[in-house]
Order: sequence, then structure tokens, then C-alpha cells
Amino acid sequence: MQLTASDPTSAAFRDRVDAEIDAYLTRLTGRLESVSPALTQLTRVARDLSSGGKRLRPAFAYWGFVAAAGDRQAPDGLWQAIAAIELLHVGVLIHDDVLDDADTRRGRPAAHRQFEDWHRSQHGVGDPAEFGRAMAVLLGDQLLVWSGELAETSALDSAAWQAARGYWHAVRTEVNSGQVLDLCAQYQVGAPPQTSAEQLAAKVLEEKTSRYTVQRPVQFGAAAGGASSEVLAGLAEYGLALGRAFQLRDDLLGVFAGEDETGKPAAGDLREGKRTVLLARVLDAADPGDRDLLTAMLGRADLTDAEIDRARSIIQGSGAVAAIEHIVAADHAKAVAALDGIAISSAGRTALVELARQCVERRS
Ligand code: IPE
Ligand code: IPE
Ligand code: MG
Ligand code: MG
Repeated sequence: MQLTASDPTSAAFRDRVDAEIDAYLTRLTGRLESVSPALTQLTRVARDLSSGGKRLRPAFAYWGFVAAAGDRQAPDGLWQAIAAIELLHVGVLIHDDVLDDADTRRGRPAAHRQFEDWHRSQHGVGDPAEFGRAMAVLLGDQLLVWSGELAETSALDSAAWQAARGYWHAVRTEVNSGQVLDLCAQYQVGAPPQTSAEQLAAKVLEEKTSRYTVQRPVQFGAAAGGASSEVLAGLAEYGLALGRAFQLRDDLLGVFAGEDETGKPAAGDLREGKRTVLLARVLDAADPGDRDLLTAMLGRADLTDAEIDRARSIIQGSGAVAAIEHIVAADHAKAVAALDGIAISSAGRTALVELARQCVERRS
């Protein structure tokens, strides 16, 4: 299979990742069916929510491998391992949508909503929404276990797995830490003394996004490809800066983008009251009247369209949007510069530079 570095998330690339996920879910479905047909609802929903993502984490892992291994063909085991990274992500997203009470994901009903619909179609007893959430918790847990199984039983040779597995383990703790800190920031619980809202948001972002989305996947792939410690350190810098730019773009999309673009609820960050870096900046900069108005709106799931328009105009008028765009551009430049200092293959460099562009210019 020929992949092109200048199009690192091409249809051919996504098809390869999807084929690995499909094959694994098909194997699991067979196992589950023999226990009870009800269990195949787990793989049905997992399969549905596996489609439609941007596949950025697999792409960082794959092109990290190419950056380190050059022309050496990626082994089948690498494809299984990067499919495992995506399956882990699906589980994290399913849990996240329960935590955030979000109805849609990747342009389809969130897992808890799909299980709720299943309950209704079966004329089950009790509260369908409660059933849906409980099932989504179980499916998220199951995906954590399944992704672990897929990674650990992948056909990666043992030297590659030994070199890479620390990143696999690290990212699973880090993403959960990020989620815990996100929740604590939202509920204003547990903040260390003298920490500003922006510092808290920046910590959440580092754990939940920079390490999870960019840094660990790219290091995982590069380590499996035999990267030196200098290359791994350069990629760490690339990952932290680019992950920050990615999340800051997400903060802007989370306020201004439509559901047709992101596949997630429009203005979801406002309705959830998510304490993003963008919001911290706005609340610092806005005049007291606007600040009070916005604070009262944050976290209200029932915001009307008119209220959302008002919140958007306060955010736009605060000057924080331009400031965030400025940081995104600076972080993007920093990430690309981190690649300049390390000895990686030219295909790997081309792909990682293009992925950086996609992360900061995305609309979804
Ligand atoms: C969503 O990740 C979670 C965040 C860290 C913002 P993506 O934006 O990569 O979502 P998918 O994988 O394309 O659905
Ligand atoms: C997404 O977090 C899940 C993780 C990456 C841990 P958010 O709640 O911030 O993102 P979206 O907007 O739902 O994707
Ligand atoms: Mg969310
Ligand atoms: Mg969340």
C-alpha cells in the first residue's frame, strides 16, 4: 500500500486503520454472540462511533514511525497498535459524552443516546436515559480493555513494543488525569491555592489534549520505529506545542462552530460551562457587566439561540479571540521549528508538518 506523506490522513490511510478496527470488532462480535446476542449491542455501537473521526492519533503514531524508521515498511503489528489507539479514543469519547451530557458525536447520536433508543425499541422497564448512561459507562470501560488487548497482542516485534509501550501506558493515565482536572475546574473543586483560571485550563489542556492527541501517539510510533532519545525529545516538544494549538482551535470551534461542521453539539462548551483557556481569557478581559452575564449563561444546557448569540458577541468583543488566534499561530510555528532540530526522515517531516497545518486550520 502506497501512502503519501503530503496527505497524511488520506482515504487510503483511513481505510487501513478502519480495516484493522473492523476486523477486531468482528472477531469480538463472534465471541460475544456466543454468550448472548444482547452483548453484540456493544460492538454495534462501538462500530458506529468508530466511524467519522479525523484519525489524527493514528496518523501521528504512523508518521512518527515513518519519521524514525524511514523507508522501512510499517509492520502489520504497527497497524494493530495504532488501531488500538483509535479504539481507546472511541472509549474516551463515549465516557466524555456521558460526563458532558452531549447528545451527538461524530455526527451521530452519542453512545448513551443510542443505548437509550435501544431500551425504548425493546420496551424496557425503568428510565431509558439512565439505562443509556449506564450502558455507555460499561462500553467505555470495555473499549479501554479491548484497546489494551489489541495493543498488547499486536504483532509488533518485542523490541518495538518494549520501546513504545511506556507511551501507551502513560497516555491512558494522562487522559484520565486531564478529564478529572477538567471536571474539577468546571465544578471549581480542588484548585491549588493561587492558581488562576487560565493556569488551571492550561494544565487540563496539556494532559487532556497535548499529551493525549499529539505527543504520546507520535512518540509511540517513533519509539516503535527505533527513534533516538534526541528524536523523542524533539517530538515531545512538537507534540506539546501542537497539542496546545489543536485544543485552542477546539476552544474556538466549541463556541463558534455549527454541529454540521464538528459533528458535536453547537456551542457545546457554553452549554457545558467548560472552563477553557478561551473562556478564562474572556472572563479576565470583559467588562464587569458582560462578565456577569456570561458567567450566568455558562453551564446552562437550555441556552436559547438569542443567548448564544449574545455570549458569542461578548466573547468576540473581549479581544480574546484574536489573542487565542495569536497563540495558535505561535504554537504552530514552535511545533514546526521543533522538527527542524531533529534527524528524521523526509517523508516523516513532510507528514508531521502537514498534520500540524491540519490541526490548526481545521473546521471540524
Ligand atoms: C476530540 O478529538 C477530543 C478532543 C481532544 C478535542 P478529535 O477532534 O480528534 O475527534 P475525532 O477523533 O475527530 O472525532
Ligand atoms: C474530549 O474532551 C475528550 C478527551 C479528549 C479527553 P472535551 O469534552 O473537551 O471535547 P469534546 O468537545 O467533547 O470533543
Ligand atoms: Mg466533551
Ligand atoms: Mg469533556
